[in-house]
Amino acid sequence: MGKKFLWGSATASYQCEGAWNEDGRGLSIWDEFSHHSDKNINNVTGDIASNHYHQFEEDIRMMKEGGQNSYRFSIAWPRILPKGKGDVNQKGIDFYHRMIDCLLKNGIEPNVTLYHWDLPLPLQEKGGWENEETAYAFAEYARICFSEYGDKVKLWVTINEPHYSITSMYGAGNYPPNVKDGQRCIKAAYITMLASALAVKEFRKFSNIGQIGIVHDASPCYGVDDSKETQFAVRMADNLFNNWVLEPTMRGVFPQDMLDELAKYYDLSFMKKENSEIFKSGTLDFIGINYYSRSFIRSYTEGESYIGVNNTGIKSAVDQPLMVMKGMFEQIKDPGGEFTDWDMEIYPQGMYDTLRQIRQRYGDVPIYITENGVGLYEKLKDGRVEDDGRIDFLSKHIKEMLRAKEDGANICGYYVWSTFDLYSWVNGYKKRYGLVYVDFEDDNRRIPKKSYYWYRDFIRSNNNKNWGIEQ
Ligand code: BG6
Repeated sequence: MGKKFLWGSATASYQCEGAWNEDGRGLSIWDEFSHHSDKNINNVTGDIASNHYHQFEEDIRMMKEGGQNSYRFSIAWPRILPKGKGDVNQKGIDFYHRMIDCLLKNGIEPNVTLYHWDLPLPLQEKGGWENEETAYAFAEYARICFSEYGDKVKLWVTINEPHYSITSMYGAGNYPPNVKDGQRCIKAAYITMLASALAVKEFRKFSNIGQIGIVHDASPCYGVDDSKETQFAVRMADNLFNNWVLEPTMRGVFPQDMLDELAKYYDLSFMKKENSEIFKSGTLDFIGINYYSRSFIRSYTEGESYIGVNNTGIKSAVDQPLMVMKGMFEQIKDPGGEFTDWDMEIYPQGMYDTLRQIRQRYGDVPIYITENGVGLYEKLKDGRVEDDGRIDFLSKHIKEMLRAKEDGANICGYYVWSTFDLYSWVNGYKKRYGLVYVDFEDDNRRIPKKSYYWYRDFIRSNNNKNWGIEQ
């Protein structure tokens, strides 16, 4: 069977579905956060979000009309298993069957993520990602999804961004359960990776079920200079930002120099010897890369470890350094860099560099750019959204991706984040990423932005190229 380059867009369950208490769905940590936490600074919830649960047919029609041939979305664990494990909710199962069938009917290939951060609340109450039982519960949930949808879905992702999500949950503390504790963070990061490996083990029991990967928030690390100290800092940052996820999923082991360094500051006894076989047999078929920005690194100067974040949407709201890892490195803002209102540096070359690095390290492994996009303030003007900033961002990044492809990286698909406007976690709804505008004030009306048409025309004009992929 021939393979086409996939041009699509992406969303995640909690960020867009809404229907938080419908058809037997259980609660996730984000329901608890958005309803009750004083850290929910924008005071909004995902209760309705983009109402995708009820409008998915319209959304899929727009994908098709927009020339897209793949849709990356996630399954809400609490819809399938309201308590995280145990009783299965048939209505939840049926919903994703309807969604997948609709995609296939429209010639759109589903790319399914099993976990995009909506951890069932009952599991969090028993320790969440700090408890190994969660990893086993995840594997059981994954098995249910494989057996339900495996004959229809050929692209699977275990976990979305283990690095970014866990450091937000346990390092920066801006995501539930809102903890700031390095020791707990590292343990949760390890158990999340274990969960991914256990799910892969389940996956391998099925045949003709396609491929499975992980989605990683790639952050290529650049030093402020070339000194020995900076080189050490860059290596440590690269270990914590990238290798912690890519090494176990590609080679089945964690980087030894990272473990040696971490062991100076943290107790790593939770990394059980008997789990090493699970990691070794849990390597993946492809890498999903979410590329947003890079990391600018200098050597450690002083102070305790911390991570700064800007969820305010006011430029320069975070101090320098952005992050300190005691004894290892500091991450800073490049004074000459270009930043969004949420202090994200726009750095298209990082797309090329990260893809080249993956090729150097892991050879021919298939790569999907599973997310790439920019969050902006946007308003409807005369019924239109002229998002030239997004078009500029996407075209520059796609160009860098294609350059990497020409240079040999095995890139098989690209997904814009996001398909339509949605809940941007702690940033709420004012930070918009969609190709389609959602009028949250007017019954969640969908209005394609200028970028939607730009992307459609871009795909159209490139459709007869085969991008080096067998047709
Ligand atoms: C990625 C996530 O980290 O970035 C998405 O996979 C997220 O879920 C996106 O929405 C943009 O981040 P944010 O915080 O600006 O919404």
